[in-house]
Amino acid sequence: MRLVIVSNRVTIPDRHEKAAAGGLAVALREALEKRGGLWFGWSGDVNDAAAGQAVRTVQRGKVTYAVTDLTESERQTYYLGFSNRALWPNMHYRLGLTEFSRTDYAGYLAVNRRFAKALIPLLKPDDLIWIHDYHLIPLAAELRRRGVTNRIGYFHHIPWPPAEVFGALPFSATLISTMGAYDLVGVQTQVDVRNLISGLVSLCGARMEGGKVRMGRRETTVQAFPIGIDVEAFRKLAAASERAATRPIKATRESLGARKLVIGVDRLDYSKGIVQRLEAFGQFLRSHPEHRGRVGMLQIAPPSRTDVPEYAELDRQSDETAGRLNAALGEFDWTPIRVVKKAYSRNALAGFYRRAQVGLVTPMRDGMNLVAKEYIAAQDPADPGVLVLSRFAGAAQQMGEALIVNPYDTHEVAEAIRTALAMPKSERIRRFERLYEIIDATDIGWWTQCYLDALSGIEAPAQDSAPK
Ligand code: F6P
Repeated sequence: MRLVIVSNRVTIPDRHEKAAAGGLAVALREALEKRGGLWFGWSGDVNDAAAGQAVRTVQRGKVTYAVTDLTESERQTYYLGFSNRALWPNMHYRLGLTEFSRTDYAGYLAVNRRFAKALIPLLKPDDLIWIHDYHLIPLAAELRRRGVTNRIGYFHHIPWPPAEVFGALPFSATLISTMGAYDLVGVQTQVDVRNLISGLVSLCGARMEGGKVRMGRRETTVQAFPIGIDVEAFRKLAAASERAATRPIKATRESLGARKLVIGVDRLDYSKGIVQRLEAFGQFLRSHPEHRGRVGMLQIAPPSRTDVPEYAELDRQSDETAGRLNAALGEFDWTPIRVVKKAYSRNALAGFYRRAQVGLVTPMRDGMNLVAKEYIAAQDPADPGVLVLSRFAGAAQQMGEALIVNPYDTHEVAEAIRTALAMPKSERIRRFERLYEIIDATDIGWWTQCYLDALSGIEAPAQDSAPK
């Protein structure tokens, strides 16, 4: 069976080294390149001409990339508006940041309809269709409405909030009911499974039957599949960085000298807790002045969704926080915090992680967080660093050997940094080995296999099984 992946954004790889992209893009590329298939979605470009709405295909190895542009109005309503000002904050439990507009919601539905119409001519009867993320929740319902009977799965990369939170979103009942068009809905954790099922039951009257969710005549399986990374490939990249003479890695080594390094790597997004993390590092230096001049923090934060006002505000806040802390705590020959707002290649990232004694992964809420897994994969097994991990990242469900913290408590995170820097080598190795074992056993290959086995094992839907 051919695999057809659909996601909001599709980046066609060029033949040169690629800049680091979001976790979803990296994970799916790794999954699809091995197996081959079709990947459909938005090109990332905006084009108001009719030609932009056509589907363009490009072949790279075993993968066919099929992309379409968005019009400016679609980008505003579907992508920036409903996806990223309504669904994103709501699903990250941030009701106060949620901005709902009916125009945005109409644009979201219209793009899902357009994607369905554009995808249908590319489909073969046996294709396994796998749709990704919150931008495309109603896509399967649109496909079913047009007669598609293939098996269709959905994977939700971000958290699914409790029914009380999701229910605050206007049209939440209509939207969640479109989940009934999928055969399999995958989420990151058991908490997400519980939240989604309770939303389906309480918001649109779904019933549980034999472990499946029944809505009208259709049955949907809801299950957790914690996403992973290509551990072996990343481990090799990081090990090679020890010998690499590439500029970012060499320059970092030279500029740090004997100083220790605490690293954070995230898209510049309020869900990642970047400002709170900078404050925690400042608190650590205030509470433990003996570390001043001996350790530095590097926060890599490529800008993201810069046209969304809440992201522009975060950009301003992170500059202000880093500037204030550096002015208060720095010395003429030592800058405590470096915030670098650009994306680096996977090679460079692997090298940075390897050089860092502490990986600070402290989102306020996160579906999984693959940086936590990359940090562990990149460590030197003979002298590994320590992961400090938010209990609100899906990864914390699997990675209990990290130092687990509540990112809302600046003092707790500050103390975890101190504990990590002081941890004896034997304990660092013990924790690292357990963490490595778990991320290796549940790597990207395992994730893809488990999901696709589950989806292909589900009986094909009957011809008349469109949701009511
Ligand atoms: O994982 C969440 C997600 O929205 C992905 O769907 C996406 O690939 C990534 O974050 C980056 O976001 P954007 O495409 O909005 O830059």
